[in-house]
Amino acid sequence: MDKVEEVKQNALQEIEQANDVATLEAIKVKYFGKKGELTALLKMMGTLSAEEKPKFGAIVNSAKEEVSEVLNKKMDAFAKAEMDKKLQTEKIDVTLPGSKIIRGSKHPLTRVIEEIEDLFVSMGYDVVAGPELETDEYCFERLNLPKGHPARDMQDSFYITPEYLLRTQTSAVQARAMMANTEKTPLRIIVPGKTYRREDDATHSHQFNQVEGLVVDKNISFADLKGTLEIFMKHMLGEDTKLRFRPSYFPFTEPSYEVDVSCFKCGGKGCNLCKHTGWIELLGAGIVHPNVLSMNGYDPNEYSGFAFGTGLDRLAMFKYGITDIRLLYENDVRFLKQFDRKDD
Ligand code: PHE
Repeated sequence: MDKVEEVKQNALQEIEQANDVATLEAIKVKYFGKKGELTALLKMMGTLSAEEKPKFGAIVNSAKEEVSEVLNKKMDAFAKAEMDKKLQTEKIDVTLPGSKIIRGSKHPLTRVIEEIEDLFVSMGYDVVAGPELETDEYCFERLNLPKGHPARDMQDSFYITPEYLLRTQTSAVQARAMMANTEKTPLRIIVPGKTYRREDDATHSHQFNQVEGLVVDKNISFADLKGTLEIFMKHMLGEDTKLRFRPSYFPFTEPSYEVDVSCFKCGGKGCNLCKHTGWIELLGAGIVHPNVLSMNGYDPNEYSGFAFGTGLDRLAMFKYGITDIRLLYENDVRFLKQFDRKDD
């Protein structure tokens, strides 16, 4: 028992003298570890008689408790002191003004897309998306463009496999939307999105953006197409804009048109922008081909529709007077900053 008292006193004294956490850790091992001095005392029990055992055990345990309590208290005190020190040195003044982040501006393409979306949503259209990695089936076959059709040459494509390609036109989503509309509710959609073709110069980029429009319902006529495109173009380019429909060819529309807008730079008189014709070609459009309707789940005797597609890059370029399409994709801040608007 004297031995227990002696070990305890030594431990308490060492704890008293310890000046840091590391020393306390060492003391803990020295007394409480596997080979620790207090642990060793308990092992002595084996040499005692049956009636001495419980008494001795109780004394050792209370010594252990006392030492560990003192030790833990001192450990906590050290931890608290360290925290206080940290709080003092790492104090953050939350009232200091933050460093200013330079505000970006919307990309001109984003502006054009948002403007178109707002307009068409206000006319009851849904904005839908489709995959950029598209199947030959949806990009061409379901649009009345079977394999080997010569009109496929109009669009030089990036094929990934014989069945998959990067979509050359948002028209692919026409077929998807028609197939998905099993209820045959009035279909009014626009599809803004990225498209890809093998071309690259000042007015063509291998990746560009289109917006597709499709309306399928009963009694849809050319008058609906004409009125819609007029609203669309006047909204984007100004109330004075005039439209000209020229006969053209697309496999998925019949009749088909190229739609020109009057040059908004010269008002139609002729200038360098419109190559002195007074007109600028901006859209492809037409009445949905009966084959496209029937291939995608519609009875052409009951339903009709119109579709149009336009290049968003071209539209943005004309709207903002941008002369090189590549500027839209180089992300040069000197260019982008010109589209900053305070009211965004
Ligand atoms: N998808 C055609 C193109 O990319 C444009 C178009 C869309 C034409 C819809 C008619 C109807 O050239």
